Amino acid sequence: MTGATPAGGDRLRVGIVGCGGIGNSHARAYVAHPRVDLVGVVDEIPERAERYAGEYGTTAYGSIAELVDQQPDLVTVATQPGRHVEPTLELLGRHCSVLLEKPPTANLADLDTLIAADSASAGNVYGVFQHRHGSGARRAHELMTAGALGRPLVAVCETLWYRPDSYFLPDWRGNWAGEGGGPTLGHGIHQIDLLLHLLGPWTSVQAQSSRLARPIEFEDVSLAMITFTSGAVGTIVTSLLSPRELSRIRVDTTAGTLEVNHVYGYSDADWSWTPTPDAASAATNGRDPGETVRSDGAANRADPWRAHPGADVPSNHAAQINRLVDDLLAGREHETTLAASRPTMELVTALYASSLTGEPVHRRDLVPGHPHYTRLDGGLTADAVTARLAGSRV
Ligand SMILES: NC(=O)c1ccc[n+]([C@@H]2O[C@H](COP(=O)([O-])OP(=O)(O)OC[C@H]3O[C@@H](n4cnc5c(N)ncnc54)[C@H](O)[C@@H]3O)[C@@H](O)[C@H]2O)c1
Repeated sequence: MTGATPAGGDRLRVGIVGCGGIGNSHARAYVAHPRVDLVGVVDEIPERAERYAGEYGTTAYGSIAELVDQQPDLVTVATQPGRHVEPTLELLGRHCSVLLEKPPTANLADLDTLIAADSASAGNVYGVFQHRHGSGARRAHELMTAGALGRPLVAVCETLWYRPDSYFLPDWRGNWAGEGGGPTLGHGIHQIDLLLHLLGPWTSVQAQSSRLARPIEFEDVSLAMITFTSGAVGTIVTSLLSPRELSRIRVDTTAGTLEVNHVYGYSDADWSWTPTPDAASAATNGRDPGETVRSDGAANRADPWRAHPGADVPSNHAAQINRLVDDLLAGREHETTLAASRPTMELVTALYASSLTGEPVHRRDLVPGHPHYTRLDGGLTADAVTARLAGSRV
């Protein structure tokens, strides 16, 4: 159901629940937007809300109910990953729209609960996946979807980050209860979401996860082989053990190689397109490779990437929030709905299920009743998880 937000209105009233680290990125984007009023913030630790109120020129409230009394059109939920469901349900119950931080939930069961609540509410939930919203990904998505970059064949998706032991000191980090899952859910999810955004639906996954160095309950590295519905195949590696950090997606297609290399956010310059040799030399020589070539030679269908430049919007929270605000004020559907994040959560779930069972997982298997539908650890004991992350199936 839609309707909580003021389609055609002049300004958007917004709030924030969760005034910790990443809430700042939301607050900064909101206060920088000329058509947004940040009407209030809430944190269960009152000093944190007070600090935000002073820094961003707004009011600290003691509860979500008091914040909703200010009639916000949209409220960011930036609470810890294991604590997304309760505030989101309360806001939906009060018919308020929500911008929910990643990962949207800790498992598919909770995601489906929120999707059902979204349907029953006048508010909608939108998921934060900021890397879909930079101009590089928008350009890549449009061209891939139109078939202008050829048919995808081989993909590589890497999140090679570094987090020392001290990163896991906050009590909610490093355990299933606080985070719902390990770095595959909490960190790799950004690139995994972008990979699926570019390549479309997947059908099966075979994965392996290990705990090699960190004092945590789940994996610190995971590796997966994925088959897409299109027949394309790919690999996904997520690591928190990689000192030279890199986030990378590479797609080899029948027409060339599309690649983005960055760490925590890309600009247009981080994307490249390398046409297949025939198309590349045809374009260089100014010959018509059987496609349309403009007489000035500046743009042609043999090099669709150059013919379709990006708008140089980096992939940060402002990129998504600016689009979301514009969409809501214009009464348009915003693309990153909660339902749109389900394929990503399914793939993450399959990755855990496969690595903890040693068996391939098909997307069609991930229905209510599947052991990993309600918990990414599949309800295994801590000892069983430890054994499986060490490579033992006994
Ligand atoms: N999109 C990104 O790039 C990105 C980056 C980092 C973190 N995140 C995500 O942002 C979320 C928050 O992470 P963080 O590092 O900012 O955590 P944090 O611990 O710094 O902040 C969370 C805040 O929420 C408050 N809180 C928890 N439950 C609450 C409730 N029911 N009502 C009011 N306040 C409540 C806590 O007191 C805390 O201040 C996580 O889901 C994380 O995965 C996203």
